[in-house]
This record gives sequence, C-alpha cells and structure tokens, in this order.
Amino acid sequence: MEDPVTVRNHRVSGNPKRIAGERAAELVDDGMIVGLGTGSTAFYAIQRLGERVREGLRIRGVPTSEQSRIQAERERIPLVDFAETTRIDLTIDGADEIDPAFNLIKGGGGALFREKLVATASLREIIVADESKLKDRLGAFPLPVEVVPFGWQFVQSKLEALGCRAALRVRENRTFSTDNGNHILDCAFGPIEAPEDLERRIAAICGVVESGLFVGLAHRIVIGNADGTLEERDRPQCGVDARRKT
Ligand code: A5P
Repeated sequence: MEDPVTVRNHRVSGNPKRIAGERAAELVDDGMIVGLGTGSTAFYAIQRLGERVREGLRIRGVPTSEQSRIQAERERIPLVDFAETTRIDLTIDGADEIDPAFNLIKGGGGALFREKLVATASLREIIVADESKLKDRLGAFPLPVEVVPFGWQFVQSKLEALGCRAALRVRENRTFSTDNGNHILDCAFGPIEAPEDLERRIAAICGVVESGLFVGLAHRIVIGNADGTLEERDRPQCGVDARRKT
C-alpha cells in the first residue's frame, strides 16, 4: 500500500533533539505569530528562533509554559499574550509519544493544557522529537491528565474506572503543581487502542482540565535520528503549506 505520509530525509549532524528543534525553527517566516512549545526539544527551537530574531526575523511568540516564557524572554523573542491574539500561525512543540497517525501523548513536563490550547488555536503544529518518541501504538508512557485539586481523588477513581492506574504526580517530595495551579494524574493505561475515544471519555469526567492525548492536532513531525539524519513527515494534506487543518 502506498505510504500516505510525505517523508523527507536530510543528513545533518548533532544531538537528535537539537537538529529536530533547529530545523523546525527554520520553517518560521517573517511576520508569524509562533507558539513556543515546552520541553528539552522545543528548547532548541526557541534557542534558534532567538538567534534568528537577533538576525532580523520579526515574529511574536506565544509561550506554552512559564518555562518557555522565561527562555523566550532571555532570547529576546517578542511575546504576545494569548488573550490578545486571534491567530497563531505555527507552533513548534515536543511530544512524549507519537503514533503512525500523528496522535500524541504530551505532558511529561506538565504543560499539556496550555500546549493543547495553543495547538488547537494554531494553523499548523510541528512536533519535534528524537526517534525514541515514535511508537506503533500510544500508551507505554503514562498519559498525563491535568485535574483540579478540589476532589482530585474522586477524579482519580473515575479515571481508574476507564482502565488505568492513575498516580498523583509528585516531584521532590511535593505534589506537582502545573502553571495553572492544578495537579497531574499520570494514567498507566497500557496500549491505547482508540485514542480519540479515550480522549473524549476522559474529557467527560468532571474535574478533568485536559488530557495529554493530542488527536488530529499535529501536521508535521520533525524527527532527529541517532545516526545524524533528520526526517520530516507530513500528515496527508497537512504540510506546513496547508492553510487549514483537516
Ligand atoms: C511538556 O509538558 C511536554 O508535553 C513536552 O512537550 C514533552 O514532554 C516532550 O518533552 P521533551 O522534548 O523534553 O522530551
């Protein structure tokens, strides 16, 4: 069967996360409003965008986390408040898992809610990652779900009724708090057969803010391989030239 996904290969050299992030930063054009993702791969995209801004690129960034905001300010990338913009042209973000249909698990760093809101508002979403993130099926990485602190134990029981073990995220002996002041439940479902259905069922639980399942939001993935090659794959009809999501 013909592969419906466009694949381009380049040979470059360097750390896989770095080459993926830096390549995605080259896809940004003058005048764009750019969503700035979170994590160790998006870090390199923001760093390269900072260099390009200092070379004359005119963009405005919308950070997906406080961590990204701090980095972007350090890089002197002009920022715009998400509340003040009606469009985001392109977002560059990382992922914890990517399946062959470009469904994602995100939220390993806890920024999933802002990342998802910004992705939903973006005309194009480019995911940058190293090859370890490519999976035949989502679910080896526990699915992060952001929940309000009030009554989180009830939400935990509802999530577990969907067939997972939901663990409250703790970091350095303290309950992890998101940029929105919420908790994260890391939900070990095992292999996820139907991501869209699971996303919908989780979203229907009162007390859930958002899950880290991203279905139909990614247009292009840029993968850095350990052998120094770079792969770009476009979801059909969804290349960076596409003006609208399908
Ligand atoms: C942040 O909450 C996440 O969604 C990250 O985008 C994801 O964890 C990928 O991070 P790395 O690029 O650091 O692996």
